[in-house]
Parts: sequence; structure tokens; C-alpha cells
Amino acid sequence: MTISVQVFETIVREAGSIAMGYFKNLNNVGVIKKSPRDLVTDADVAVEEYLKQALNKAYPEYGFWGEEGGQADNQTNRWIVDPIDGTHSFAKGQYFWSISVALEIAGELVAGSVYAPALDDLYLAIKGQGATKNGKAISVSAETSLADSMVATGFACLRSYLVENNLKRFCRIAENTTGQRRFGSAAMDLCLVADGQVDAFWEQELNLYDVAAGALIAKEAGGTVTDFKGNDGVYPKQILVTNGKIFKELLALM
Ligand code: IPD
Ligand code: CA
Ligand code: CA
Repeated sequence: MTISVQVFETIVREAGSIAMGYFKNLNNVGVIKKSPRDLVTDADVAVEEYLKQALNKAYPEYGFWGEEGGQADNQTNRWIVDPIDGTHSFAKGQYFWSISVALEIAGELVAGSVYAPALDDLYLAIKGQGATKNGKAISVSAETSLADSMVATGFACLRSYLVENNLKRFCRIAENTTGQRRFGSAAMDLCLVADGQVDAFWEQELNLYDVAAGALIAKEAGGTVTDFKGNDGVYPKQILVTNGKIFKELLALM
């Protein structure tokens, strides 16, 4: 796999600059409902269009799968892109949203970046080379006690109107932890585990474009990445990411 970290970061940062142009002018940004609880804005579309052309120009050998535009055909080597993760937060003028870009080669995630332009925090990982935040190495937290930990989750499942909707699981875990957060961007949630800002994150009913980059970053930062049964791997429909030290205790409550 040959990509230049510098080229990758430059493209992701430019996407962030495009997104910020819309973010600073929200009153004039079009917002439509893709589904009863799912928004898409002019920024989502513009950022994805930019990323598609920029990544294709830099790396024409790779395909492209974006949340808004879909993918042309079954590509084995492809960019997996969520142009704005946390669109609802973005549309409300909140700072917790991100741009998520991952590279998958023959089914393996080999590079990923999650950029939060409003915070100017850029997370990045290349498989086997560790994870960084703004160019500095990061690692998961040292917290060993579930009772003293802070965890994050999300409720995509509510939007899917599922009966098994994470609310009972959230209450069970909340009673056994010190802090709970729902930040609003799954891609960022995964990076916060990688950076030790939270000790674990879980969510159901996500898509690969929500989690591909963040899961690689969390893994490269020393985190566990499993499903709710503890099977290693990236399972968007049931993703559980921890600092490793509280994994067994938390798994028992999932
Ligand atoms: C959403 C965010 C949110 C998660 C939702 C996702 P989107 O992404 O990641 O944290 O709970 O399920 O859909 O829709 O804003 O790209
Ligand atoms: Ca998303
Ligand atoms: Ca999105």
C-alpha cells in the first residue's frame, strides 16, 4: 500500500476547510431529511464531491465509497468516506462533527484519518505504524477500573426503530461507570478512545463509513475493537472499542 501521509493529510485538511466554509454560514446551508431521523446538508455533498475528485486524482488506482454518493461497483481497493460524521451536530452549529476517510485494500483497513475541523484536531493512523493526533503519537487510557471509567455511546439504533435499542444497555453500563457521554460523531468517539479521553465506546447499527477510519486509529492506539460478544474485528452493526484494561468488565455488561 503506497500512500503519502502528507498527501493524505493535505487532502483531508482541505476537505475540512470546505466544510468550515459552510459551517460559518449555516443560515444559507441547505438541509434535507434523507429519512425521518437522518439529515444531509449541502456541506455533506460538497465535501464528498471534493474528496472523491481529490483522492481519485492522487490515487486513481483506488475506488471510492462515500456515504452520500454510494459506490460505483464492488471495489476491493477503495476509499471509504463519511464526508460529515455528526451532520445533526453540524447543522445545529455544534463543534463535535468530523470528516472520516479510510483506505481499504483487499478487505483490510490500512489507513485512516478523522478530522474535526471546528476543533482543528486531526487523527491519523497507518496500519502497523501507530496513531497520531495533530502529528503527535496517542494511546488509549490507563484506566483499569470500569467503576472509575468514562464511556461514550450513540443511538443510531433508535433511528432504526429497533426494539433492541441500546437504552437498557446504556442504563446497565451507566450504573457501573463514573461518566457517560453522547458526543454525536461516532468517528470522533472512536478517536477519543484512541486519545484516552474516554475509556470505551460502543454503538449499534452504524455503517462502515462511520467507523472504518476511527476503528483503525483506535486499534493502532492500543485499543480493542470487537463486536458485543468480544469477537475481534470491525463490526459496524455492533462495535465495541475499549482501552483493553476494562474490556472484560465492560463485555460482561454488553
Ligand atoms: C451519525 C453519527 C452519530 C451516530 C449516528 C450516525 P451521520 O453519523 O456518527 O454519532 O450515532 O448513528 O449516523 O449520520 O451524521 O453521518
Ligand atoms: Ca456518519
Ligand atoms: Ca455522514
